[in-house]
Amino acid sequence: MTDITYYGHSTFLVTLDQTKILFDPFISPNELAEGIDIQDITPDYILITHGHSDHVADVEAIAKNSNATLVANFEVATWFQEKGIEKVHPMNHGGSKTFDFGKVKYVNAIHSSTLPDGTPGGNPGGFVVQSGDTAFYYAGDTALTYDMKLIAEEFDIDFAFLPVGDNFTMGIEDALKAAKMVGTRKIIAMHYDTFPYIQIDKEATKKAADKAGMELIMLNIEENITF
Ligand code: NI
Ligand code: MN
Repeated sequence: MTDITYYGHSTFLVTLDQTKILFDPFISPNELAEGIDIQDITPDYILITHGHSDHVADVEAIAKNSNATLVANFEVATWFQEKGIEKVHPMNHGGSKTFDFGKVKYVNAIHSSTLPDGTPGGNPGGFVVQSGDTAFYYAGDTALTYDMKLIAEEFDIDFAFLPVGDNFTMGIEDALKAAKMVGTRKIIAMHYDTFPYIQIDKEATKKAADKAGMELIMLNIEENITF
């Protein structure tokens, strides 16, 4: 069973059986996520796609509080290690690693990646997680890219977390193509409405997904779903 809680922007807590995996925590600076106490979020792992502050703002506090293992590319992992986070696991593009909850592959993303203090964050990525019969893709911030077809060749993707906010990442039309490329009809939307640049028309976005025969899930902040 897979349990998913949304904390706004691109932040999701995915629980696979007993393991809690937090993606790209950006909660305390997000006005839309006011009222969430990050001390209540106690993941076993934190997966980070790239170094931009809207993906890493709460990593240090949550990692120190929960003793979670950080998984990120080499540059981002090293940067957090130097901040005193003890449990870090560096990866890089094309690499897979099997953890106690399953396999993680760090895959391509087309974007940029600078850490909050200006340190280069290496190249941005996304993750594919395979745990038992469940496989999902967490795209991070990315443009549409044909590389996504490689994911469908290797994995039977059940659902995908895709950005739909446009401007800095894919918008809905490209996200629908991305879902098709990775081989799923179930999209969990992220990276929209947080900032004026990425405010979207949710009705029109949903209609576009319906028209394409895709299931687009837009969770409310703190909403939880189970597959
Ligand atoms: Ni970004
Ligand atoms: Mn972003």
